Amino acid sequence: MTTPIGGAAQVGRRRLVASIGALAGAAALSGCTRGSGGPDGPGSGPDPTADAEGAAAAAERQGAATRSFHGPRQSGVDDLPQAFLTMVAFDLAAGADTETVRRLMTVWTDDINRLMSGRGALTDQEPELATRPASLTVTVGWGPGAFAAAGADAPPWLAPLPPFTIDQLEERWNGGDLVLQVCSDSPVTVAHAVRKLVTGAEPMATQRWVQRGFREPLMDAGKERMRNLLGQLDGTVNPSSSVAEDEPLIWDDGSTWRANATALVVRRIAMELDRWDRADRFSREHALGRRLDNGAPLTGGDEMTPPDLAATAADGFPVIDTFSHMRRAMPTAPHERFLRRPYNYDDEPAPGQDSNSGLIFLAYCADPVRQFIPVQERLAEADLLNLYTTPIGSAVFAILPGCADGEILGGDLLT
Ligand code: HEM
Repeated sequence: MTTPIGGAAQVGRRRLVASIGALAGAAALSGCTRGSGGPDGPGSGPDPTADAEGAAAAAERQGAATRSFHGPRQSGVDDLPQAFLTMVAFDLAAGADTETVRRLMTVWTDDINRLMSGRGALTDQEPELATRPASLTVTVGWGPGAFAAAGADAPPWLAPLPPFTIDQLEERWNGGDLVLQVCSDSPVTVAHAVRKLVTGAEPMATQRWVQRGFREPLMDAGKERMRNLLGQLDGTVNPSSSVAEDEPLIWDDGSTWRANATALVVRRIAMELDRWDRADRFSREHALGRRLDNGAPLTGGDEMTPPDLAATAADGFPVIDTFSHMRRAMPTAPHERFLRRPYNYDDEPAPGQDSNSGLIFLAYCADPVRQFIPVQERLAEADLLNLYTTPIGSAVFAILPGCADGEILGGDLLT
């Protein structure tokens, strides 16, 4: 918490720009309601394939697809991962209190609702940039600082992760009082939404860190997993909230903190691609326990075939190495499971370096202390993939339950 508050100025600026934004938004919307098309709208121009594939498919291709904002749970957790991600962590202003957090949540709730439905934010002077939501989701989380400022009842598990032996954390990627996870199939939409939400937060909260990531946008099927930059199929074994026994692993059922909340663990993990380049295919597959081409376990079958951990090779050693990533990450108790939704990053290399790539590892679970930490401890103890990867950032947030129309996110915490 660093910047002093100037809330009155903020509200004043918002009111002033709101009138401009409303005019611009109305102008833009009158000319480009979804499907009817303005100069830049989703339905602009003739669509030669609309007859063949249907108007809905064409509209979706042009970015008209929306995900719901209102509801008991926030979007962006267990829904299909979009291609582009920006995570922004915030520091609350010095002296922030319950009213500061309430004001911020009021602004964000309204703007996120608008942006996710393809409308400009309240003070938006470029509402045209909002007309292709492309499945935009903005997911709001609170870190320990937001609960402290608001004097609100925090989840018992909400704290930074303990240090792990493999960690080489850089302070610039750690922590945060609040987080926004912004995902869309359009990178322009992500950039615009982030800009509106960041400026809308000023001066109540300022950016602490920003992480940008991406997944394969051209995968037709199986988008719940992706190729990471080591070339592995990532996301194969994951709980699903459509499976009754998995649901309480992802979403709090109310027994830990709040029904329909979840924890978000963010780990920024650097990949040593130069070392990976020197490893042959056998060593690479051995480190994971799965094939690189189709993601099948080394004991055979296809991607979804369960691994045969007892199988041994001619030399008597296990086919799936005891220290392979998959084997070390497998649950040793039924509760040691969580939802992974990772994104690649590929940033500007430092001088003298070839690359600056890795994974923005996002894990969601009802209780990270019980579900996530034991797995991370096991991987820190021994995991062949550690030769090629290093955690450099870490943060834990409480993803708030969703809200209904007329409510604000986190409203019940702000009494
Ligand atoms: C850069 C770092 C990492 C990479 C490249 C990576 C990659 C992979 C890949 C390719 C798989 C196999 C396919 C799949 O089931 O998704 C996998 C499985 C898994 N990983 Fe990771 N991972 C990384 C970090 C982590 C971390 C930090 C954790 C948790 C602390 C983790 C937990 C898991 C789990 C639980 C599985 C499924 C194991 C099972 O088969 O039951 N991974 N990972």
